[in-house]
Formats: sequence, C-alpha cells, structure tokens
Amino acid sequence: MPIDPDYKSKLQKTGTHTAHDVWGEKAERPIDMAGYEAQIKANIERDGYLGIHGSVVAVDFDLCIADGACLPVCPVAVFEWIKKPGDSTKDGKLDESDKSDPIREADCIFCMACETVCPTVAIKIYQP
Ligand code: F3S
Ligand code: F3S
Ligand code: ZN
Repeated sequence: MPIDPDYKSKLQKTGTHTAHDVWGEKAERPIDMAGYEAQIKANIERDGYLGIHGSVVAVDFDLCIADGACLPVCPVAVFEWIKKPGDSTKDGKLDESDKSDPIREADCIFCMACETVCPTVAIKIYQP
C-alpha cells in the first residue's frame, strides 16, 4: 500500500510543478494498492500514471484517492488541491480524481501528521 520510499533511485525526474520536482510521470510502475484497488485502478485507467510530486514532502499521485485528510491536518498548509489552488480544506476536492499537491514543501516542519492520516499511505516525508 505505501508509497515506495526508494522512488528517487527507481524513477526518473520527469519535470517540475509549482516549486517541486515530479518523478515518474507517464511511467508504468508497480503500485501496492492493497485495499484500494478499485479506486486506484480507475484513476490510472482514466489519467495514466501521474507519478510522485515532491522531494521533501512526497505525494504519490497514483496512490492519492482524494481522501483529503492530509490537507487540514498540516499546521503550515503545505498542501492544496491540485484542481482548486488555494483550497486546503478536507472536502475542497473537485472530484475523486483530484490530488493533494505539496506546493509548499519547503515550509514543512516535520510534524508527520500527514503521513499518519493518509488512508493509502501516499505521503512520505524526507527530513533533510
Ligand atoms: Fe505538514 Fe506533513 Fe510536514 S503535516 S508539517 S507536510 S510532515
Ligand atoms: Fe490523497 Fe492521502 Fe491526502 S489520499 S488527499 S494524499 S490523505
Ligand atoms: Zn505538484
């Protein structure tokens, strides 16, 4: 189920988005979907492989099912909905394919709350 902690050595850096790097966009890769196969497979079939956003606060966009718990729990508002910039509320997603984007990963104070609350363990924090 969790995001692959070794993604930086396994995936290519494929671009940048807001102020962070993107890894493995459009690259098929094994994903541990345990418990959430239906939602995750539907997202990938519709949108392809989106890859992982961020290097300090990493969100696996292919594991993110738009649960929303990570956004309000962050004390420094690192995350915003990708389809609705500026919205960091739990239910601010536009639809089930929306993603939590770590647009302010440089502000992370490593409280680790986001890692804990995500149901699909799509988030991994790398403390420099
Ligand atoms: Fe926020 Fe997660 Fe960092 S909750 S402070 S992005 S560890
Ligand atoms: Fe997505 Fe997990 Fe947040 S499913 S919206 S990264 S709590
Ligand atoms: Zn992003």
